[in-house]
Amino acid sequence: MATVLVTGANRGLGLEFVEQLVARGDVVIATARRGSRIVTGALDALCDASDNLDVLNLDMRDDASIAAFPREVDGRAIDILINNAGVYGPRGAAFGELGGEPWAEVMRVNCIAPMLLTQALLPNLRLGSQRKLAFITSKMGSVADNRGGGSYIYRSSKSALNAAVKSLSVDLADEGFVSVLLHPGWVQTDMGGPNALIDANTSVSGMLRVIDGAGQAESGKFVAYDGAEIPW
Ligand SMILES: NC(=O)c1ccc[n+]([C@@H]2O[C@H](COP(=O)([O-])OP(=O)(O)OC[C@H]3O[C@@H](n4cnc5c(N)ncnc54)[C@H](OP(=O)(O)O)[C@@H]3O)[C@@H](O)[C@H]2O)c1
Repeated sequence: MATVLVTGANRGLGLEFVEQLVARGDVVIATARRGSRIVTGALDALCDASDNLDVLNLDMRDDASIAAFPREVDGRAIDILINNAGVYGPRGAAFGELGGEPWAEVMRVNCIAPMLLTQALLPNLRLGSQRKLAFITSKMGSVADNRGGGSYIYRSSKSALNAAVKSLSVDLADEGFVSVLLHPGWVQTDMGGPNALIDANTSVSGMLRVIDGAGQAESGKFVAYDGAEIPW
């Protein structure tokens, strides 16, 4: 039984992570932002029905919310941190139509915020017995795999996350931390859309298998939900 913190748990892959972790008996700290545009009620219902789930407020756009967050966790040990919250940004923003503000916001949520959160929670993570850090990235952040072009904002935010987590994996290796970058596949969520190739259950059960099996040899790797390594 581990204590696992999952960000962006209001819907999509984050909610699925929480459902699977709660079902297998882990202690789960789920974060969601109050005042979200889309409130399904599913997380609250799960929280009411489970004694191993806490839901805490966290807006990944807000540095102050991130800096204050460790107080909410209140000295608890965290074994596994799953940085899942993410945004795609403006759809179809082509070269010639790019705007700085929307780009900066996607960079903040997808790259800067997970790094700041991990930094803020390091004392809690040091108290944990597993010291696993999972970051949900995307194959669209692979520079080597980019044959389609476009998607400047989303692609660059995930490439930047990949670069930052690679450094983290090097810097925290001596303390026994394992840092993994996970591509969930193309998944049927609000972000992935209805035509995506796999459902959230398949993606998340695969990613949990990768996280559970990850050791020092896997730290700093960029892998898909099925364990296949992805070129940078
Ligand atoms: N679906 C795919 O095919 C796919 C493929 C590759 C990578 N990914 C990655 O997988 C992760 C999860 O994606 P998904 O498909 O589950 O997307 P989703 O259905 O759009 O859900 C995104 C989640 O992130 C949360 N979030 C967004 N901005 C936030 C903020 N500022 N503060 C706190 N939470 C915030 C959302 O909360 P609200 O409900 O409050 O907005 C929601 O819970 C993301 O990092 C995404 O980039 C997804």
